[in-house]
Amino acid sequence: MKTTVFVRAACAAAVMVLCGAAANDDPPPHWAFIIMHKGPDLPKDRPVTVPGSKLSVPVKQFVEQDYIADWFSSDHPKMPLVVERGRKETKVAACSECHLVTGVGGPDSAGLAGLSADYIVAQFEEFRSGRRDCAVKESEPCAEAMPAEAKAISTADVRAAAAYFAQIPYRSRLHVVEAAMVPKTEIVWYTNMPVKGAKLEPIGDRIIELQDDLSRYMAGDWRAPITVYVPPGSLKRGKTLVESGAGAMPCAACHGAGLQGTGMIPPLARRSPSYLYRQLYNIQYGYRKGPAVAPMLPEVAHLTAKDRLAIAAYLASMGTEQVVRR
Ligand code: HEC
Ligand code: HEC
Repeated sequence: MKTTVFVRAACAAAVMVLCGAAANDDPPPHWAFIIMHKGPDLPKDRPVTVPGSKLSVPVKQFVEQDYIADWFSSDHPKMPLVVERGRKETKVAACSECHLVTGVGGPDSAGLAGLSADYIVAQFEEFRSGRRDCAVKESEPCAEAMPAEAKAISTADVRAAAAYFAQIPYRSRLHVVEAAMVPKTEIVWYTNMPVKGAKLEPIGDRIIELQDDLSRYMAGDWRAPITVYVPPGSLKRGKTLVESGAGAMPCAACHGAGLQGTGMIPPLARRSPSYLYRQLYNIQYGYRKGPAVAPMLPEVAHLTAKDRLAIAAYLASMGTEQVVRR
């Protein structure tokens, strides 16, 4: 597209109106903007359990009552009602339905544990006002879930949920692996699952966050590990970009030491790379806009798809000794 250079420059200058159009030669990738595909329901012939928990819940309870199981109650403080059950009368869904009970989140949502309460409260206003939107309208988690929640919820419930998630330390469940060949996957509900019996396939320009047990995922087991496959070389490239600032300021200048966040600036280390990629993309192309993200614009203005991928891969791997290469 001939107009791209102009439009990208316009994005950097915070003239956001045209930015959506810039994405033609840099489309939003499917792996980061998850589109739901219906999958099988939980098997009805046995109660739902997860490894390490004594709890056993009849499937009926799960399916018919949108039940959220507290598999490990020692992992978190007491949940406010809006986190545990939501508010049926006003169509406010329980936060734990999508972010899980501890707020660890997944590739299709966001990690809330360890964000500051003020930042969480502020994001509700961003979603409600439409300043925080999504490049892919068909991706319901990214485009619809939070705007709907933010429009329905009361201020008191936002505050209660924010205070709850802010006090839980973030415990990553990601294991990052650089690999040229990866399991063939398909989206089942909102998650990547391996296709049984299929051969490995080239990773290409993708990050694959893989849950290996569908029933643990569907049970909302926040301890279930996620393997993150990233292209060979992306971690080194990402480290260089993050530490140098990718042509602008180093990320740690604002996101703090170890990229653990401070106040209104969110933590990045070991968060879902699909989530991080979506944010970089949405900010770069003006789908997440307004004064709050203005400091980010010089950071993303000149990023390529490969840069965003490398940054997201490295951030997800930070501080781990478990990075394996295949
Ligand atoms: C139906 C699913 C769903 C429910 C229910 C839900 N969320 Fe979300 N939330 C999401 C998704 C999906 C995202 C990621 C959006 C994106 O990709 O930009 C998100 C993002 C967020 C963010 C932004 C995080 C960041 O780092 O900027 C906050 C804060 C948040 N949610 C808080 C909450 C709270 C608190 C509740 C309960 C009151 C809640 N959410 C209920 C799906 C949900
Ligand atoms: C000048 C300060 C500044 C610098 C430097 C900076 N950021 Fe940010 N970043 C912010 C602010 C402020 C926000 C929160 C925006 C908001 O409130 O919506 C943010 C948000 C983000 C988010 C969204 C996180 C979330 O939870 O939704 C990502 C991803 C991000 N930054 C990545 C980066 C990367 C990668 C770099 C380095 C290349 C970087 N930032 C450098 C200020 C900065």
